[in-house]
Amino acid sequence: MRLDKFVASNTAHSRSEVRQLLRANRLTVNGAAVRDAGLILREGDEVRLDDGLISARGPRYFMLHKPAGVVCVTEDGGHRTVLDLLAGEIREGLHVAGRLDIDTTGLVLITDDGQWSHRIKAPGRHEKRYRVHTARPIAAEAIEQFARGLLLRGEEDQPTRPARLQILGEKEALLWLQEGRYHQVKRMFAALGNHVEALHREAVAGIELDPGLAEGSWRALSPTEVACGKP
Ligand code: URA
Repeated sequence: MRLDKFVASNTAHSRSEVRQLLRANRLTVNGAAVRDAGLILREGDEVRLDDGLISARGPRYFMLHKPAGVVCVTEDGGHRTVLDLLAGEIREGLHVAGRLDIDTTGLVLITDDGQWSHRIKAPGRHEKRYRVHTARPIAAEAIEQFARGLLLRGEEDQPTRPARLQILGEKEALLWLQEGRYHQVKRMFAALGNHVEALHREAVAGIELDPGLAEGSWRALSPTEVACGKP
């Protein structure tokens, strides 16, 4: 890993602050002052800031209550990203485990543990629960149609996995999905001639969106929540 990335990932300093530290000769690798931000570290290299050893920290896991209007990609020139909502110093190296559309709200999981996010996203391993508000009334037959699997436009050869639908009101339902295809909820309702007006993700893999988290807020996952994504 590059020196500047390692220091930014394991301290409260951003990459631009790390460059200032380098210019001020405050960082050493194996006892020698370094100024090259792109220096590639090897196994066992000892990095110090003002004599304090910087050690690699363990993997990190967060939940965030995504507001509408924010995107789930890591960088976007035009829109605010979910990573922009995290405190600057912890952002380095993190990615989103399962994206939501710009207009969808609710639970977003964020981590730097690639294996964990891979397991969370793998089809058939974990359920996601969505609360859906539709433009038109939801027919009772939709329960059976979702359970049987639907053919989505452009993917007619691959029906959706069985999904559970609970109708809560004329135009409101809870939906449990075992997979996460592109715009899946919207496309499933479109396949039945309906239209999703509002979509909110409440839970992923047994991890429930904390009701105490206001839109735009985040917190670290508890060890029990992290364990939900472990084998
Ligand atoms: N399905 C969608 O259509 N949109 C989302 O954001 C998530 C699931």
